[in-house]
Amino acid sequence: MKAKFIGTVVILIVGALALLGWFGYQSFTTGFSAKAEPNALEVLMARQVRYLAIPLEQRNKPNPVPVTPDVLQDGLAHFADHCATCHANDGSGQTPIGKNVYPKAPDMREAPTQTMSDGELFWVIHNGIRFTAMPAWGEGDPEQDLDSWKLVHFIRHLPKLTPQELETMKSLNPKSKHAADEEAAFDQFLQGDDSVAAPAESGHHH
Ligand code: HEC
Repeated sequence: MKAKFIGTVVILIVGALALLGWFGYQSFTTGFSAKAEPNALEVLMARQVRYLAIPLEQRNKPNPVPVTPDVLQDGLAHFADHCATCHANDGSGQTPIGKNVYPKAPDMREAPTQTMSDGELFWVIHNGIRFTAMPAWGEGDPEQDLDSWKLVHFIRHLPKLTPQELETMKSLNPKSKHAADEEAAFDQFLQGDDSVAAPAESGHHH
């Protein structure tokens, strides 16, 4: 009995040391750069830990918002405004922030995201993901909850996004002050106001 117990403990300790050694070796070869790719084992473990951290009843929660064109439109606008800086309008994660945080923003059109349940997606949006760049968006306000459920519908729609929808999103993306100023100047110019230089010319001095 006692021997069996000691045997188990020894196996656990050896296993833990082997795992530590593995991670140690990985960080030795890649350094601590945020640009490094997590290895398959890390990804598997992180996903498993996250999965277990979500209470079962939350994971199985159905989306209370029926999907309609209006709901998708709301989700699209919200995503363009709040999520696309990291996740990109098309959900690919191909943005300067999304590519350079560790772990990277995933391509949400792919199976690992699309196979998550609605409840899981909602939970992630609502609570964020600890130790990553993914922030929490929920405030316990029922209105906000509905917004998050609409975003779940929109994430499901990402693999089918149309070019027109992408264009709409571009116009809804938050703009830097510089881009907004330039656009305002351009509008003024188009309306025949000569007091502002045409933006295309503003870099040149004749
Ligand atoms: C500051 C950058 C940032 C912003 C803004 C952001 N996210 Fe994320 N998000 C991330 C990162 C990084 C991950 C990956 C974390 C990981 O791998 O554990 C992630 C993961 C996710 C996931 C899980 C996908 C998966 O397969 O693991 C969902 C869903 C998600 N984000 C939705 C959203 C939504 C919806 C918004 C806007 C309301 C948003 N995110 C805003 C950085 C961001």
